[in-house]
Amino acid sequence: MDFTGRTAIVTGGAKGIGRGCVELIAEHGGNAVIADMNFEMAKTVEDELVKKGLKAKAVQVNVKQVSDIEKMVKTAADTFGSVDILINNAGIFHATPIEDITEEEWDNILAINLKSVFFATQKVLPYMEEQRYGKIVNLSSLAGRNGGIANGMGYAATKAGIVGLTRGFASRLAKYGINVNAVAPGSTDTGILDGLSNSEIDALVKNIPLGRFGKIHEVAAAIVFLCSDDAAFVTGAVLDVNGGMYFG
Ligand SMILES: NC(=O)c1ccc[n+]([C@@H]2O[C@H](COP(=O)([O-])OP(=O)(O)OC[C@H]3O[C@@H](n4cnc5c(N)ncnc54)[C@H](O)[C@@H]3O)[C@@H](O)[C@H]2O)c1
Repeated sequence: MDFTGRTAIVTGGAKGIGRGCVELIAEHGGNAVIADMNFEMAKTVEDELVKKGLKAKAVQVNVKQVSDIEKMVKTAADTFGSVDILINNAGIFHATPIEDITEEEWDNILAINLKSVFFATQKVLPYMEEQRYGKIVNLSSLAGRNGGIANGMGYAATKAGIVGLTRGFASRLAKYGINVNAVAPGSTDTGILDGLSNSEIDALVKNIPLGRFGKIHEVAAAIVFLCSDDAAFVTGAVLDVNGGMYFG
């Protein structure tokens, strides 16, 4: 894989799977834009990469806000001259029982996990359309494929919605040379599952045929492959990376 001259925006890029993608893209020559709500953490990643001679830029964004998304895209283009890759990775998890989900919690998770994917795609489109080149990868989840096990329904709904957005955008944007795919990880060891109890974690692991959680680099590698020209003929796909829990 070679990302030389390519600019990639990774939302939620300061930590977890997003950080894994940022590192891989930068290590393969790309310009990595670390777009995260936590600017301090994003800046630390930028500093570490730049110290290694790699190209990176931290940007503060709350993906809930369309105005922030607009600024994120403009900063990427102003800094590196193009926007070639968008990884819609930022997301939050909840495990709230059906009876306890409030309207506020529902609206919040829908805005962060799903609305952001639509608007980030809308805002990178002018650049990708003009250059007739773009790669977009959206983070779905096993929960979006099978309705989920330990997660709340708001989470499952956003991750299933991402599959619909991925396919809709893939069919509409192919004519501009833009590939749109999704990756649906199963339980991955990033800290996002910290809200779960030990017994919930044990129950999860017991149900994974490969007998363990995924590792950050295993999910990031699948995402970054879909951003590469090696995957130029793949669009509208949902790649399951889940240790055998669901085959699609
Ligand atoms: N870890 C898993 O088991 C798992 C499984 C399936 C899907 N996923 C999906 O993968 C993606 C990344 O998960 P992770 O485990 O690496 O998460 P994480 O919690 O480790 O990191 C998420 C990053 O997103 C940032 N972020 C959160 N809300 C934001 C917002 N509103 N605006 C901007 N940045 C924000 C956080 O600051 C953090 O840096 C998520 O979309 C998640 O739903 C994760």
